[in-house]
Amino acid sequence: MIEYENLGKLNEPFFEAYKAVFEKILDSGWYILGKNVATFEQEFANYTGTKFCVGVASGLDALSLAIRCFEFPADSEVIVPSNTYIATILSIIQNGLNPILVEPDIKTYNIDPTKIEEKITSNTRAILLVHLYGKCCDMDSIISIAQRYNLRLIEDCAQSHGSKYKGQIAGSFGDFGAHSFYPTKNLGALGDAGAVTTNNEMLAEKIKALRNYGSRIKYVNEYIGYNSRLDEIQAGFLSIKLASLNIINEHKRKLAKLYFRNLSNEFIKPDVHEKFYDVYHIFNIRHPRRDQIREYLLKNDIKTEIHYPIAPHKQKAMKGIIDGNYPISEEIHATTLSLPISYFHTEEDIYRVIEILNSFI
Ligand SMILES: Cc1ncc(COP(=O)(O)O)c(C=O)c1O
Repeated sequence: MIEYENLGKLNEPFFEAYKAVFEKILDSGWYILGKNVATFEQEFANYTGTKFCVGVASGLDALSLAIRCFEFPADSEVIVPSNTYIATILSIIQNGLNPILVEPDIKTYNIDPTKIEEKITSNTRAILLVHLYGKCCDMDSIISIAQRYNLRLIEDCAQSHGSKYKGQIAGSFGDFGAHSFYPTKNLGALGDAGAVTTNNEMLAEKIKALRNYGSRIKYVNEYIGYNSRLDEIQAGFLSIKLASLNIINEHKRKLAKLYFRNLSNEFIKPDVHEKFYDVYHIFNIRHPRRDQIREYLLKNDIKTEIHYPIAPHKQKAMKGIIDGNYPISEEIHATTLSLPISYFHTEEDIYRVIEILNSFI
C-alpha cells in the first residue's frame, strides 16, 4: 500500500532529536512560552527573512490574531480567495467581518489578481491571500493593488513554508504572514501550532499581547485577547524540523519532477514558472473522471486525497454568509486529486503511482 500520508514515517528521521529535546524540556519544568519558543521564533523569522515571528497555538489563530490586530470597523470587508481551506474564511468571520470571495486562476489555483479590483468597495480593508498547495501568489500584482487602495495585506502561509516568489519567501511580503504547523504541513509540529511573521515591531508586540489574554504585563489587560500560546515542546520539535525544511522541500520537488516528466498529459498538472519556487505541500492533478481515477488507484493500493471536496461557498456553515457563484472554484473542487508526495515517499513509490495512473488512460 502506498499511503497518502503517514505521520509516524514522516517524523521517523527526527525521532532521536525529538526525544532528546522532549527530555530536556520535561526536566526544565517550563512548558509554555519559554526559551524554546523564543529560539524558534528567532529562527523562523530568520528563515522567512522577516524581522519578527510570534508563536501561537494554530494556523487559524495566526490568521485570526493578524486580522484582529487592525481593529477594523464591524462592517469591513476582507478579500479572500474562493478556493481555500475553510480556516482562511473562518478567521474573517470570527472577527465579525465580511469575507468577499474572489475566484482563483484555474492554472495556478491561487487568487486571480485580475479579479480583485472589481470586488473592492469603500468597506474593503484587507486582502487575505493564500499561497495554496505550496505555490506563492502572483505577489507583484497583489502588492500593487493593496498599495493603490491602501489595503492591509495578510498572507495565509499554512501550505507554503519555504515557497518563494522571485526569490522572496512566503510570509515576508505583507503586513503579516500567518503560518500553520499542523503535523501534515511541510514544517509540521507533533500537535497544533502556528506563528505570525511580520516586519513591523508594533504589530509583533500587539500579536504577543493578543496571544496572551491581551496582556503585556502580568495581570494587566490592554486588549480583549485570546489564549493562543505556543508550547515549549512544540517549539522544540519545530526548531529540529526547521533545520531540515529545505531538505524536505527539495525532496518534495524531486518527487514532483517525476510526476511532471512521466505522467500522461491527459492529467492536468500544476503550473510551473521560473518566477516561483514551489514546495508542493500538495501535488494535485485534475481530470473530469477524478472519482473513477481515485477508485482505480485505491484498487491498486494507492491512497489519494481531495483538497477540497466541497468549495467553501457550498458549505452548510456558510449559508447566509457567502452567496454568489464561483464556477472556477467548483470546477477545481470537482476535478482535483492530490497524489502522494510526502517526505517519506521514495522515487519508487512515485514511479508506481505514475505507472498505475498512466495505465488508467
Ligand atoms: C490554507 C490553510 N489555512 C489555514 C489553515 C489552518 O491551520 P490550523 O489547522 O493549524 O489551524 C490550514 C490548515 O489546514 C490551511 O490549509
